[in-house]
Amino acid sequence: MNLDFRNVAKTFPSFRGAVPAVRDANFSVGDGELFILLGPSGCGKSTILNLAVGLERPTSGEIRFDGEIVASRERGIFVPPGKRNVAMVFQGYALYPHLNVRENIAFPLRVAGEAREEIDRSVARTASMLGIEELLRSRPSELSGGQRQRVAIARALVRKPRLFLLDEPLSNLDAALRAATRAELRRLQRALGVTTLYVTHDQTEAMTLGDRIALLRDGRILQTGTPRDLYEKPETPFAASFIGPYPMNLLKAVLEEEGGVRFVRLGAERLPLPPDRVPGERRPGSRNVLFGIRPEHVRAVPESPEPAPRGIVTAVEHLGRETVVTADIGGASLLAVAGEGTWKEGDIARLEIPMEFSHVFPEGDDPS
Ligand SMILES: Nc1ncnc2c1ncn2[C@@H]1O[C@H](COP(=O)(O)OP(=O)(O)OP(=O)(O)O)[C@@H](O)[C@H]1O
Ligand SMILES: [Mg+2]
Repeated sequence: MNLDFRNVAKTFPSFRGAVPAVRDANFSVGDGELFILLGPSGCGKSTILNLAVGLERPTSGEIRFDGEIVASRERGIFVPPGKRNVAMVFQGYALYPHLNVRENIAFPLRVAGEAREEIDRSVARTASMLGIEELLRSRPSELSGGQRQRVAIARALVRKPRLFLLDEPLSNLDAALRAATRAELRRLQRALGVTTLYVTHDQTEAMTLGDRIALLRDGRILQTGTPRDLYEKPETPFAASFIGPYPMNLLKAVLEEEGGVRFVRLGAERLPLPPDRVPGERRPGSRNVLFGIRPEHVRAVPESPEPAPRGIVTAVEHLGRETVVTADIGGASLLAVAGEGTWKEGDIARLEIPMEFSHVFPEGDDPS
């Protein structure tokens, strides 16, 4: 199934005044695609899921399933949740505590009035898909967080939904279980081929799971693309700092030009900027920019034949496979993850910056 949001807005009345939870959301999820809504707390992710399932009505705009409008205030159309065949695993998933696992999974089918044998078959099939056959007789209170999570997913999938909505489904799990469940979810979603909208605030989860990601902030979709697009071509400092194993280094800098070549001045060095890295005409004439380079691209080395800014090492973190060096270059902090040598605070390092991986944003774009 295809899911379409067109110019969807949702504003809540509240004691704080009107809260614009979702502003002008436009996105399309293709048949079988796993589409991620990524963003910090309060940016509108759950509200978008609630709009898709039909627990909320859009203030304006329309929502379509396979081209058919399921919600539009302007046209007076609203298909109720019960008629949408959408399954949702809620944030802080709730199982019915007085029902055992079998009854929990069967619940949506019983409500739908399915025949007993059909229910038994569907529950058995779904339970085996999720590897929880052994647990069918248990009560939720006897299960671990990860097991409860699987039961909640089984209960959502048992009805063969057109659309599968997951709201932070892994946030209650510890790191190891989260990684394992993530891989399993991915496999299951592929096998079922069900169109999926997945909410998370965790960029690692988004990057490893998603076919595509929509990055949200304050109710607005800032950028949509594949994980690779968002990593390689962040359009805003916010995207640059939110996506990636480390937030991108963002330094105030001045663009200089000489003989048709542009340079970025960093510390005492002038680093030539490849033409494809020069910002567009968003702010013509502006020379003040935010210069971005990912920590995993910066190399801290004792000596360099290249024009590499000098910095004083202010912190060293050993993370096993890599060492994160923080250096002060002329009052600005720069993180470097690549490099060689052993470092301690107070050392002078040269910081090699591969300019082909650099980013330039107009100054004034706020990364926080
Ligand atoms: N029923 C409601 N009434 C009033 N305001 C609401 C309501 N539901 C959500 N909001 C507000 O809308 C905004 C978006 O909320 P939403 O729950 O969609 O965020 P979220 O991205 O899911 O956050 P989190 O990651 O914390 O779950 C928030 O400012 C929230 O306070
Ligand atoms: Mg939420």
